[in-house]
Amino acid sequence: MFEVHHQHRGVIRRQQPAPAPQYSIRMECRKRQDYGVHLTADILSPQDSILPALLANRKALAVTTSTVYKYYGRQLEQLIRQCDLDMSVHVLEGGESNKTIASVERICNEALATKMDRRSVLVGIGGGVCTDVVAMAASAIRRGIDHMRVPTTLIGLVDAGIGLKGGVNLGSKKNYFGCFNPPSQALLDPAFLNTLPEACVRYGMAEILKMALVTDRELFRLCEAHQQALIESRFSDPWEIGREIIWRSTRSMLDELQKNPYEDQTYQRLVDMGHCFSPALEAATGYRMHHGEAVAIDMALTVTLAEALGMMDPSERNRFVDVLLQAGLPIHAPELTPALCEAALDEAEQHRGGAVHFPVPIEIGRCLFIEDRAKLPGRLIETALRRLAGEARDMHTNTH
Ligand SMILES: NC(=O)c1ccc[n+]([C@@H]2O[C@H](COP(=O)([O-])OP(=O)(O)OC[C@H]3O[C@@H](n4cnc5c(N)ncnc54)[C@H](O)[C@@H]3O)[C@@H](O)[C@H]2O)c1
Ligand SMILES: [Zn+2]
Repeated sequence: MFEVHHQHRGVIRRQQPAPAPQYSIRMECRKRQDYGVHLTADILSPQDSILPALLANRKALAVTTSTVYKYYGRQLEQLIRQCDLDMSVHVLEGGESNKTIASVERICNEALATKMDRRSVLVGIGGGVCTDVVAMAASAIRRGIDHMRVPTTLIGLVDAGIGLKGGVNLGSKKNYFGCFNPPSQALLDPAFLNTLPEACVRYGMAEILKMALVTDRELFRLCEAHQQALIESRFSDPWEIGREIIWRSTRSMLDELQKNPYEDQTYQRLVDMGHCFSPALEAATGYRMHHGEAVAIDMALTVTLAEALGMMDPSERNRFVDVLLQAGLPIHAPELTPALCEAALDEAEQHRGGAVHFPVPIEIGRCLFIEDRAKLPGRLIETALRRLAGEARDMHTNTH
């Protein structure tokens, strides 16, 4: 830019140049991305694992957590040796409190130390915490390298390990530092569940029942008939049914993700079921309540509201609540007050473009959306919560 100054009767005037012509161009920079999700077995078996073929001789860094390494480290090292993989192993501390930028940085340092290049691949082997951190690191290393997810928890198999999202917590703000970064492959092997604590299996059941409630009645029927045996046996008995439940739930989740992978197409998301009141509830308990339990309580409230609104038949509502209880999941918590629920709805309305887009089942396997916040008045919520508190109490006295 230049300015012309010229003197006129002793006064300096600035003469602005004519506005520069504006040139604009629209850059198309969408990346076509797809990935494979495989329900497999024997991931750590040197003879039968599909991992070596998918790595295709690329340099790899396996990232896992100390608990998972304790159970599966020896098998992993054996797989690397016997299949002659160009892979090193990095063990992180697990747990939500280690879902931090510091963990991402540790992985990046390790990638640098092992001389990973742009063709190299990270392989996250662990629960949702591990795969979320790995997805973040992969998005950052050399502006993005491939990663694979090998989930070892039930939440991982049906949710965290198969989607596009990664993230870490910033202080107490969950997943504040996050990314959309699809894996190149997701490898699902339910045998990892053998060592999972029973409570973690229940939490995963809550997410499976969510998918059943919104899209898949047959999935619900399978859970209703077999979940008790499956929770006790860590999905190993009946083995075929366990795999069918995981695969049906995974496919329903992927169908939903496919419609809205970057969450920018619509606010009407069926997978928000169970996730409207639960974040507020988790926060209100100082995150002592597990996400899966909060999701179960949220769904119990939602089906109860659906019945009160005359949208869902009472027998359907009761059937769903019974299956939550049968899975050992809670249906009520004193921290979930009517005021907290109303605040959650207000926030949903604000964040979702001025309408609540609240998914409500009309039967198990089929949902509609309530858009108008006024259709969910405070007294309706209060009555529903009181009813659930009573049912939870009855359940408690009957089992003790
Ligand atoms: N990216 C997504 O789309 C997505 C979706 C859902 C949840 N998440 C995230 O996932 C996390 C929750 O996932 P999670 O429930 O898997 O928690 P997690 O990763 O903390 O695992 C739960 C516990 O199980 C242990 N563990 C893992 N695998 C085991 C095995 N095979 N045997 C024995 N113990 C094992 C872990 O050490 C941990 O103590 C949250 O941080 C949540 O935000 C992400
Ligand atoms: Zn969830």
